[in-house]
Amino acid sequence: MKYVLIGFLAFLFIQTGYSQSRSTQTYEYGLVVSAEVYASEVGNKILRQGGNAVDAAVAVQFALAVTLPRAGNLGGGGFMVIQLENGTSTSLDFRETAPSRASRNMYVRNGEFKPELSWEGILAVGVPGTVDGMVTALERYGRMPLELVLQPAIDLAKNGYYLSYSQAGSLNNYKDTFSKYEGSKKYYTKENGELFKEGDLFVQKDLAEVLEQISKYGRDGFYSGSVADAIVTEMKKKNGLITYSDLKNYRSKWRAPVKAKFQDYELTIMPPPSSGSIAVAQILDMMDDYSLAELGHNSAAYVHLMAEAMRRAFADRSYYLGDPDFYDVPKQDLLNPNYNNARMIGFSMDTVTSSSSLSHGEFSNNYESDETTHFSVVDKDGNAVAVTTTLNGSFGSKVAVDGAGFLLNNEMDDFSAQPGEPNAYGLIGGEANAIEPGKRMLSSMTPTIVTKDGKVRMVLGAAGGPRIITATLQSFLNMAVFGMNAQEAIAANRIHHQWLPDILFYENYGLSPDTIRLLEEKGHQLRTMSIARGHIIYVDQDGNKSSGVDPRGDGHAAGY
Ligand code: DON
Repeated sequence: MKYVLIGFLAFLFIQTGYSQSRSTQTYEYGLVVSAEVYASEVGNKILRQGGNAVDAAVAVQFALAVTLPRAGNLGGGGFMVIQLENGTSTSLDFRETAPSRASRNMYVRNGEFKPELSWEGILAVGVPGTVDGMVTALERYGRMPLELVLQPAIDLAKNGYYLSYSQAGSLNNYKDTFSKYEGSKKYYTKENGELFKEGDLFVQKDLAEVLEQISKYGRDGFYSGSVADAIVTEMKKKNGLITYSDLKNYRSKWRAPVKAKFQDYELTIMPPPSSGSIAVAQILDMMDDYSLAELGHNSAAYVHLMAEAMRRAFADRSYYLGDPDFYDVPKQDLLNPNYNNARMIGFSMDTVTSSSSLSHGEFSNNYESDETTHFSVVDKDGNAVAVTTTLNGSFGSKVAVDGAGFLLNNEMDDFSAQPGEPNAYGLIGGEANAIEPGKRMLSSMTPTIVTKDGKVRMVLGAAGGPRIITATLQSFLNMAVFGMNAQEAIAANRIHHQWLPDILFYENYGLSPDTIRLLEEKGHQLRTMSIARGHIIYVDQDGNKSSGVDPRGDGHAAGY
């Protein structure tokens, strides 16, 4: 079977003129970089059929719902940033919302907070936003009909695709958990208790039918009719909260992106309820008085400065950020350079500011699950789309809708389910991000498009919880300051600091022993961790494109 897979991929590459796209090329029809080979090839095919970047992005999102079930999704949500060749930009928020019956203390039992309830099982599920998001984006900016961009995903679900080594492994890792839920057991485990193997043909008939409903009826094919029936039945069976009217009322929202300036670059980033935009803009502001190139990439001085800026931005994140429709996020204050300069008062190049001595500014546990996914698209006209989409944890709540073949998210854990208590990513939130019916949970997903002189130069983003913010920042700085190419920029070792816990994370072998010693002398506590996975595109001043495929994952670039 392995040889069938290799043969199929070789066929695809010959068909599409695939080349190892780390090199810079014209890519006449555009370039797609995503976490998964079939999905990138679907995007490439749509571009070659005359689709623009939005058509391709929507097709990739639906394909990932089939070929990357641990993160690509119909039952989750995400963010899309769009930069058009004519200079206009916008962003679409298709983040999940809390069900109308959700309440602040929904995870408290007998006076005790039960964090496991917001992580696995039916109560962890927010109202899914992905399908509305894709239909909405396509309607406004796409060129192709929904049926056409959905067809590749339908074919992959109906006819199946060959599991990669890591996909088979990730399904097998959750075998026992999936077995607790009828739908998940049916779709994601083998009948006789055997394990999945690399090269197994993975067919998803029920999912194909759901995609066909969406193809025929648009958003109604998901938020009403037989798919809504299946979701609500699943809820009723397991005492979940989502109702027919929650589904009917879900709407994605167009939002004005956050703009940040750094040197000659303008960054267009997803605004709240993404926290990434504000945090990246703040960190850049806090760092830009220093000559970063002179400090040197990943030198002790550079890492220290960046970690201290991250610490301050994450302290603000935890206090000030939440859904702007429910909480008055002080966006302008947080983006004010004077405020960010003031945040660095007390910063010393020689010693740390301990997180316990630092909280949010005044205006004048921790692990990484592997599943969110980011993809980047640039089309032949220079339009660009950055999408980050997620179920939150790997395979979300682990609950698949029986009869409908897709997984539901566990995004409710991104609320401060108990203000002051850390969530699964060790993030502590406050009132701004407390649970309220209909509210969107704060996110770290940071899809970003960078322009120079009005032209798209970088399409960035990552998966990896709060590390998304710091990884996106470093990918940008690696290219903008250190002159790395896209592949070098995404592969380079990263660091991460998120205020609490007060630990400077770095990647194994990512810092030299003498750099570590210098950082420890300044007072940092260091720990190793793999930091996020991004899929990025760089466009040079002549319009040639190159891809950065994260070596920490199994991503793939497809262009022609
Ligand atoms: O929106 C967020 O910030 C999280 N739900 C993202 C989760 C994530 O990136 C998981 N891993 N790759």
